[in-house]
Amino acid sequence: MNTFGRIFSLSIFGESHGQGLGVIVDGCPPGIKLVTDDFLADLARRNPIEPGTTPRKEKDIPELVSGIFNDHTTGAPITILFRNEDVQSAEYNKYADMPRPGHADFVASKKYKGFNDYRGGGMFSGRLTLPLIAAGVIAKKFIEKINIHAKLISAGGSENIEDAIRQAEVEQDSIGGVVECIAENIPVGLGEPFFDGIESLLSHLIFSIPGVKAVEFGAGVSSASMKGSEFNDVYISTDGKTKTNNAGGVSGRLTNGNELVIRVTFRPPSSIGKSQKTLNFATGKEDILEVKGRHDVCFARRTPVIVEAVVAITLADLFLINN
Ligand SMILES: Cc1cc2nc3c(=O)[nH]c(=O)nc-3n(C[C@H](O)[C@H](O)[C@H](O)COP(=O)(O)O)c2cc1C
Repeated sequence: MNTFGRIFSLSIFGESHGQGLGVIVDGCPPGIKLVTDDFLADLARRNPIEPGTTPRKEKDIPELVSGIFNDHTTGAPITILFRNEDVQSAEYNKYADMPRPGHADFVASKKYKGFNDYRGGGMFSGRLTLPLIAAGVIAKKFIEKINIHAKLISAGGSENIEDAIRQAEVEQDSIGGVVECIAENIPVGLGEPFFDGIESLLSHLIFSIPGVKAVEFGAGVSSASMKGSEFNDVYISTDGKTKTNNAGGVSGRLTNGNELVIRVTFRPPSSIGKSQKTLNFATGKEDILEVKGRHDVCFARRTPVIVEAVVAITLADLFLINN
């Protein structure tokens, strides 16, 4: 489905190399000041950064098509459109016969019976995170008391991010990374158990970001090797603040008033500069795939603002449900 959320809901549309892409945000309360400039800082944080990201250059100016009047939200659905301009599609024709290992080319062509727009990865492109960021800007506006900050804490398994990316570039290979996101000043009780607990909803939306392979809260995976006496977060004040935060701000699938701590693991991109052996589906024989397009060596470095956006969207919806 391309729609998410119960009250603050968003529908994503578009492809990487089609005319454009965008988002329709419904359920946004009226009277929130919203102008084009509000979007620019967060959108710029997703732009390619040297080294390690694609040379594709798009202006990414949001066109505010509906739901805003006199610089304020009206309460009607907000439509935001981005045009695709810097498009070079020829490279992608060969992936019909030789789908890129690790990318969506093969599964998309099977699922959509060959009618999918495969140019630039179509709807599976990382470009579809642009509308997510736009929706995140709106969400951040009306949960403005909650501070959300994400950053890339490692790439290719190393905390020396620049060096790791440069090395991957030299090797004509690609690397993944881990983004840590912290949200502060969250009210107690956001989340709707049984099935829509805070971790479930956050994970649902985080896993919609292309290339996510793992999500952890608080001590996460390492909690399996901790004793209860180490893991338990001891209360230090009657508002629920705890001495440690191994639970990552979540108890019983509800926010517990401590910082929400989320770590998101991104895989290395499928498209790599070095040639790869793969199957040629037309001949049924092994073949060599050369990926020539414009690609990220480490797209994880463009994702902190995307993670912030999906966290804001999830919290905004839960905030409205709670109120
Ligand atoms: C901002 C961003 C940029 C991306 N750039 C690339 C890229 O240049 N090359 C690539 O192979 N994958 C890239 N990806 C990842 C693919 O979109 C993703 O791996 C693909 O859709 C397959 O999905 P999966 O990895 O979730 O299985 C990017 C993802 C994001 C979020």
